[in-house]
Amino acid sequence: MIQYFNIIQALCRSALSNPNEAVIHQIIRLKESLKKDGYSKEAKSLLGLLSSSQGSSDMSPSKIQKSFITGAGEEISSKTSVPVDKETSTPLAEIIFVPDLPNDMPLFDPNIQLAIQSIVNEWANFDKLLEISATPASSCLIYGLPGTGKTHLAKWIAKQIGIPVVLARLEGLMSSFLGTTSRNIGNLFAFANRYKCVLLLDEFDAIAKLRNDPQEVGEVKRVVNTLLQSLDSRHEKGFTIGVTNHDSLLDPAIWRRFDIQIEIPKPSLEVMMFLLKKFVKPLEFSDTEIKFLTWCLEDSSGADAEMLSKWLKRAFVIEKEKNIVSVMKQFALLNSGRVNSNKRNMMLHKDEEFISMLLNDKAFSFKQKDIASLFGMTPSSLSKQLSKFKESEKI
Ligand SMILES: Nc1ncnc2c1ncn2[C@@H]1O[C@H](COP(=O)(O)OP(=O)(O)OP(=O)(O)O)[C@@H](O)[C@H]1O
Ligand SMILES: [Mg+2]
Repeated sequence: MIQYFNIIQALCRSALSNPNEAVIHQIIRLKESLKKDGYSKEAKSLLGLLSSSQGSSDMSPSKIQKSFITGAGEEISSKTSVPVDKETSTPLAEIIFVPDLPNDMPLFDPNIQLAIQSIVNEWANFDKLLEISATPASSCLIYGLPGTGKTHLAKWIAKQIGIPVVLARLEGLMSSFLGTTSRNIGNLFAFANRYKCVLLLDEFDAIAKLRNDPQEVGEVKRVVNTLLQSLDSRHEKGFTIGVTNHDSLLDPAIWRRFDIQIEIPKPSLEVMMFLLKKFVKPLEFSDTEIKFLTWCLEDSSGADAEMLSKWLKRAFVIEKEKNIVSVMKQFALLNSGRVNSNKRNMMLHKDEEFISMLLNDKAFSFKQKDIASLFGMTPSSLSKQLSKFKESEKI
């Protein structure tokens, strides 16, 4: 091919006399391929053509590449109409504008926090990275247990980039009409690719769940293929975030389409303490009380901590309750799925067993005087009660 380079060069020159994005994009591809194959002189001459071509001032390669993500695309306004399911007329997505996205980064362990910060830095500096020919990641899959703050995190990332979110719940795209699901997916991606936005695909596992239905084999294949093609089409158009609880259900081919994958774990004890302090505001609890609540919420999620905080507010402000232990017991009784079952049984059984379990937990190292104040006793009556209990156990 290289013996015809003079002709290719002439073709490029004439195409560049009236440039458009497609022409420039193809010449950039040719230049990159030549460079990769060692034809650096030829690649350089194409670069020269590109930069000196008419209109290059507003269509330089870096600008065009930039446009893939941030520059191109129409602005979404409150008047922009969202595509709908043709059969039911339900909107395929919800638009969330920047002011309505969360300001607070969710709380995670420092190592996860750092990793997330590095993605945000990469995405916020996308243009600069493209200028030095680095290809930053543009898609990210967030997965983990329910209520761990995944959707909140995805929205917060979008807030940092400063563009609206097109939020689609995959369940909502699925239709009982044959072929409609694929069409909905196609329409959703066409919409997202047209506008400057972060496409947020929430509850991404919904499609995988469909696969368990033997009657749907053909349809599922079609849907997964459409999704794969759509994700590919999205690659150079904008940021995409997928969120799922059931990472194991995802098709490996879909999984691979995401440049970055972040697993969000359940909160550690330290993170749980921070979350509780944050959620109970404006109420204030002592460190011992927060430690006690954290003990009760071991294995629970951030969403559970938020729910417990609502209970505490209701009990302390509206019902004028004074004792945190009795509120916690009430919560455990009526929120069985939110509290570790072993701890729940202990809480709802005898106070003495509950207290012994607290005192014996080495990870928390509660002192007798702290426990006594939680249970509204003096330290001496607590120790009397405990020794009586131990005696009765021996009998
Ligand atoms: N680590 C966290 N930091 C701050 N807030 C949190 C955290 N985890 C959960 N939350 C809060 O809990 C609630 C639920 O969070 P979110 O909807 O983001 O969870 P999710 O992981 O997407 O859950 P699901 O898997 O059920 O969709 C939100 O109000 C969120 O702010
Ligand atoms: Mg969610």
